[in-house]
Amino acid sequence: MDTKTGIAVPPPVVEIEKLELFYGQTQALHGITMPIHERQVTAFIGPSGCGKSTLLRCLNRLNDLIPSVRISGRVRVAGEDIFAPDCDVISLRRRVGMVFQKSNPFPMSIFENVAYGLRIAGERDQRVLDQTVEHSLRAAALWDEVKDRLGSSALRLSGGQQQRLCIARTLAVEPRVILMDEPCSALDPIATGRVEETIAELKKEYTIVIVTHNLQQASRVSDYTAFFYLGRLIEYDRTVKIFTNPGLKQTEDYVTGRFG
Ligand SMILES: Nc1ncnc2c1ncn2[C@@H]1O[C@H](COP(=O)(O)OP(=O)(O)OP(=O)(O)O)[C@@H](O)[C@H]1O
Ligand SMILES: [Mg+2]
Repeated sequence: MDTKTGIAVPPPVVEIEKLELFYGQTQALHGITMPIHERQVTAFIGPSGCGKSTLLRCLNRLNDLIPSVRISGRVRVAGEDIFAPDCDVISLRRRVGMVFQKSNPFPMSIFENVAYGLRIAGERDQRVLDQTVEHSLRAAALWDEVKDRLGSSALRLSGGQQQRLCIARTLAVEPRVILMDEPCSALDPIATGRVEETIAELKKEYTIVIVTHNLQQASRVSDYTAFFYLGRLIEYDRTVKIFTNPGLKQTEDYVTGRFG
């Protein structure tokens, strides 16, 4: 229970603790501590270069791919320390899926794009594949638009459809958390609206973290908002609070468009 508002606070599924990240000599994240609440949408906002993508990539260890990166502090996903030596990164990335800014469907059919993760995991049962593909496409609000052409190339879909296909591909492996880095920045307002509706639907089952430069989008889709500046978490609270009555002047200036 939040003592000030009396609103029940869902338990955290991700716990970030004193996280510091360096790219070589340059420190990009400074002592980030925050929970990510289960089945809520959390938005990361802040000016370009403040560390939003860097932090997002920590949550499924995508920064491992960058050799100069050094990390200290802790991230727990469902209680498990993801930087522990015995953490299985493949399984982590299945549990914490990622949707990128630029949709990146594979050059194969719509069906195969969604089935991809399951096939990699060794699933051969056609019935399971069929069911999962349908379920994932429905959950990503794309099924009705593509059900008659599952065998055709994913590359022929529109940008907005491709982005929802990437969401479906992420859902197929049943993640617990979905990370989205500016998923709508390449989309028109109508396609953006569809993706936002999809997000609203998905949060019944999944925990979502979304990075966005679109403050209206953050206020529309998220329950919690974290405002970052120069690699520091400046303010983190319920989205309504951040946008209507932030605790700090710096946050207020940013959300009202006075700087950034
Ligand atoms: N691979 C990298 N190597 C070195 N420095 C990096 C790398 N990626 C990001 N940085 C630096 O880390 C800081 C944070 O970058 P990051 O991409 O996380 O910011 P961001 O908030 O996502 O910005 P944007 O809104 O522009 O996407 C920046 O100063 C950036 O230059
Ligand atoms: Mg970024």
